[in-house]
Amino acid sequence: MGSSDLLLAPSMLSADFGNLAEAVGEVAAEADWLHIDVMDAHFVPNLTVGPPVVASLRRHSGLFFDCHLMMSDPGSYLGAFRDAGADSVTVHVEVGGTGDLIAQARQLGLGIGVALNPDTPASRVEQFVDQVDLVLCMTVFPGFGGQSFMSEVMGKVAQVRRMIDEHGASVRLEVDGGIDVKTAPVATAAGATVLVSGSAIFGHDQPWLAAAAIRRAAQGGARAPVDS
Ligand code: DX5
Ligand code: ZN
Repeated sequence: MGSSDLLLAPSMLSADFGNLAEAVGEVAAEADWLHIDVMDAHFVPNLTVGPPVVASLRRHSGLFFDCHLMMSDPGSYLGAFRDAGADSVTVHVEVGGTGDLIAQARQLGLGIGVALNPDTPASRVEQFVDQVDLVLCMTVFPGFGGQSFMSEVMGKVAQVRRMIDEHGASVRLEVDGGIDVKTAPVATAAGATVLVSGSAIFGHDQPWLAAAAIRRAAQGGARAPVDS
């Protein structure tokens, strides 16, 4: 894997929700994906945005929309997210019905990821690794931005990395929560290939510089390239 395979996905959770299009535009040149945190006040104790906001942002941005669905019932909304312009949805394995959700997302032509909370074992996703585009290992308990990176999740990230490598799958491995210039190289060294970062980017008064710095730091921790 070359370091160019690393993707940076700023999370708009920490952006100015009254000025989202402009906030996203400020980081667009440094972003590979835009991470959109959807919270339903049920799966997590917080409430954010849904398909109407995704549809509005779609009119202002050509970025790949990586929608992280922290929802107890994502299945009822996948069509709405697709119609709004989502490129990919990630559902939590803890809500169950994962096989059906994967099938439904495929049917809709959406990319599909499966997410694990910090205390959910890697074994819960093993059977899905060759069916998804992405596995997301949460490095904080979901619900809020600005929490501290849980380095104890790195053992699981390395485990999921091995699962992906064994299945020969081109599955991306995403980490989300507390990613900044210090923790990004820790996550990439464990095998992460997609870094979500919210407050470290949008909490900065020049968010594009923060994003660029995280990418540079992460590439320092990336696994040695095998093909270049
Ligand atoms: C947490 C969200 C994250 C969050 C990350 O529930 O899923 O995407 O925005 O924010 P930071 O980078 O501030 O931890
Ligand atoms: Zn997220």
